[in-house]
Amino acid sequence: MNSRQTILVVGGAGYIGSHQVDYLLQLGHQVIVLDNLIQGHKQAVSSRAKLIVGDMGDANLLKDIFSQYPIDAVMHFAAFSLVGESMENPSAYYQNNVSKTLCLLDAMRTAAVQYFIFSSTAAVFGNAQYNPIDIAHPKNPINPYGKSKYIVEQILADYARAYTMRYAILRYFNACGADPQGRLGELHEPETHLIPIALQTALGKREKLYIFGNDYNTIDGTCCRDYVHVCDLASAHLLALEKIQHEDINAEYNLGNGNGFTVQQVVNTVKKVSHSDFSVEFASRRVGDPDSLIADSTVAIQELNWQPQYSALESIIEHAWQWEQNRQFNLE
Ligand code: UFG
Repeated sequence: MNSRQTILVVGGAGYIGSHQVDYLLQLGHQVIVLDNLIQGHKQAVSSRAKLIVGDMGDANLLKDIFSQYPIDAVMHFAAFSLVGESMENPSAYYQNNVSKTLCLLDAMRTAAVQYFIFSSTAAVFGNAQYNPIDIAHPKNPINPYGKSKYIVEQILADYARAYTMRYAILRYFNACGADPQGRLGELHEPETHLIPIALQTALGKREKLYIFGNDYNTIDGTCCRDYVHVCDLASAHLLALEKIQHEDINAEYNLGNGNGFTVQQVVNTVKKVSHSDFSVEFASRRVGDPDSLIADSTVAIQELNWQPQYSALESIIEHAWQWEQNRQFNLE
C-alpha cells in the first residue's frame, strides 16, 4: 500500500468530515470531498482538497468520480443525525442514511474500491444495559436515526462477506470540540447540541440555556455523556483505515474517552472557560434521551493504539469556545 493515499471523504464539508479532511491533508494524503452542501459548508473544505458538490445518491456522478480519481478508500460522514428529527421524518433518514449509502457502496463495488470507513453512533445501542458500553453491547436502537446507522452496519457485514470489501465501523459517542488552530468548528442550523448552545448562551446569542431533565438516574439528575474531541475522531479514522488495509480485516470500534460528564458539569465548565455566568433553567426531558452513555474504547486503544490528545473536557470546551467567538465562516 502506497503511504500517500487518495481518499474520498463523503460529507467532507460537514462538522466531523471537515476536520477529517484537514487531518488527512496534514499527513500528506490526497483528498477528494463529495458533499451536497445541504448541511455542509464549502468554506469548511480546505483549498488543498478537491471539492465536488453533488449527492452520494447520484450513481452517475459516483461512477465519474471513481473513474477519474485513483481512490484507495472512502470515508463516509454524510448523514442526517438528529434523533428528534428522525422520529418526525423517518423517511428522510432511511432515504439519506440507508438508500444513498447503498448507492455509494454499489458504486465502490463496481469501481473495485475496497476500503470503507463508516461513521456510526452510540445511538445504535439504544438504552444502555450497562456502562461503559463496549462493542459487544446489544444493539437495540430506539429511533430511526440509530436504526438507519445500524442497518448500514449490517449491510456492511453482508457486503464484506459477499464482495471484495473491507470496512471499519466507528461509533462516536458525543463528538465535540474544534480545530485547536481555530480554522474549523461546529456550525449546524438549527443547532441542537449542548456545547455550542451553551457557548452561544455565554456569548449572549441566546437568552438562556435549558437543561432537559433533572430527574435522571445520575449523580446530579442531569444526563451523562462521553464527550470526544473531533480531532481525536479524525486520528481514529486513519488508524482504522490503515488497520483494515494492512491486516485485511473488518473492524468495529467505540470511540469516547470513557469518562461521563453530566449536562450540569458541562454547563459549569462552559461557564468557567467563558468567564460568563449565563442563566440556566431546568426544562422537561427531551424524548429519547437515555440517562448515561459512556464508551468503552478499549478495542480502539489496544488494536489501533489510539491515543486521544484532547480528552480533558476543559480543552474540548476551550477549542469550541475559541471557534464560537471567532468563526472563520458562517451560515450562508
Ligand atoms: N441538552 C440540554 N440542553 C440543550 C441541548 C442538549 O440539556 O439545549 C442535553 C441533552 O438532553 C443531552 C445532552 O445535553 O442529555 C447532550 O445532548 P446533545 O444534543 O449535545 O447530544 P446527544 O447526546 O443527544 O446526541 C449525540 C449525537 C447524536 C447521537 C447521540 C447518541 O449528537 O448524533 O449522541 O445518543 F445520536
